[in-house]
Amino acid sequence: MRLEQVAYRLRGSLGDAIPAIPARGSQPARDILITIWRDDLETPYRSTEPSLPLPRDAPSGFSSEMVNGEQWRIYTLREPPKVIQVAQRSSVRHELVQQAAVNTLWPILVLVPLVCAAVMLVVRFSFLQLNRLGSEVQAIDAAHLQALPTRGVPIELLPFIDSINRMIERLARSIETERKFISDAAHELRTPLTALQLQADNLQRDIVPSNQERFQELRRGIARSGGMIAQMLRLARADASLQTDAVTLVDVSDVVVDAVAEVLPIAMKRNIDIGAEEMTSAKVRMVEADLGIALRNLVSNAIRYTPDGGKVDLRTEVRDNMVWIEVVDSGPGIAEDLLPRVFDRFFRANAEIEGSGLGLSIVKAIVAKYGGTASLRNRGDGKSGIVASIGFRLAA
Ligand SMILES: Nc1ncnc2c1ncn2[C@@H]1O[C@H](COP(=O)(O)OP(=O)(O)OP(=O)(O)O)[C@@H](O)[C@H]1O
Ligand SMILES: [Mg+2]
Repeated sequence: MRLEQVAYRLRGSLGDAIPAIPARGSQPARDILITIWRDDLETPYRSTEPSLPLPRDAPSGFSSEMVNGEQWRIYTLREPPKVIQVAQRSSVRHELVQQAAVNTLWPILVLVPLVCAAVMLVVRFSFLQLNRLGSEVQAIDAAHLQALPTRGVPIELLPFIDSINRMIERLARSIETERKFISDAAHELRTPLTALQLQADNLQRDIVPSNQERFQELRRGIARSGGMIAQMLRLARADASLQTDAVTLVDVSDVVVDAVAEVLPIAMKRNIDIGAEEMTSAKVRMVEADLGIALRNLVSNAIRYTPDGGKVDLRTEVRDNMVWIEVVDSGPGIAEDLLPRVFDRFFRANAEIEGSGLGLSIVKAIVAKYGGTASLRNRGDGKSGIVASIGFRLAA
């Protein structure tokens, strides 16, 4: 294309500016060669390199010709009385084309990997955020209904997170409404039941001996209902969200000693040997009453389901940055197929012994509130009995 432009420029007097006798061999190999013929002259009128005779009769326009054993690309412009020929070695032209190609290609070759790397980085970063959100969502349950964090989240995900957070809020409200209803109902039932119990106590001396046994049955029924209502209240409280201002540093061994002391009279009456061995003094960050309630439920189960003359052991241990409290009894244990259900509300594996079936649900709710663990298993040491254990994170 450059050859054609040069040829047209040379139509006027510009061609005359070429020296009539240029210095021989002075032209660099890469330069273009110009030859101007005139009808009245046999030899070129002007030529930048007379030693390289271009074919005067080459076709008008672009053509490729051999000159002195080399391939030349020639543009021939016939403008009587002149024939203007502008030429360049084909090899030089190829080289120029290659250079032009390289010049346009290298920025692309450099940019494409850079853009790919940038895209990969952005995608990986976004997915990292998504993975983090995924584990946050996985941690959500009735005991942990906190909103998902919006800080550092890609702007495209914000509407999605917002609607999840609104859903969590609605869920938390309806769970709280249900919990409050149970708590209020249990609380309201407690007063008339206490009055009933008082009236029964007062009536006792007026009951004729022949009716005493049936009357005692009635009193036991009232006491059972009272126990059930008290457990329902404890469960509603355990389900309530954590009151962080009541959290203190609690020494686990103190709570264990208190729980043992509390059941000691019943244990002695039933000739059950209860003791706390292998005690470690370890601290947890909890509401002390919560730890007490959880432990008392396990100890009360061990005493209640162990026959007279049995043995109940408590031990504490620090392992994996957790404090574990184990209550081991010498009772009948629980059938393996029923074990997975013992933490369900109102589930009872033993119909002969009285209970509300809520004790272990309370333990589970308390443990969940502190991110701890609770488990029940049959003893694996050849003797019958249950190993009930709860674990809480050790206070730093
Ligand atoms: N140490 C244990 N040995 C044998 N069975 C047990 C033991 N602990 C729990 N269980 C069984 O698991 C069931 C559920 O226990 P849970 O403490 O939740 O309720 P409960 O003891 O029946 O009633 P509550 O504790 O509310 O008075 C019990 O009914 C009992 O059958
Ligand atoms: Mg119980």
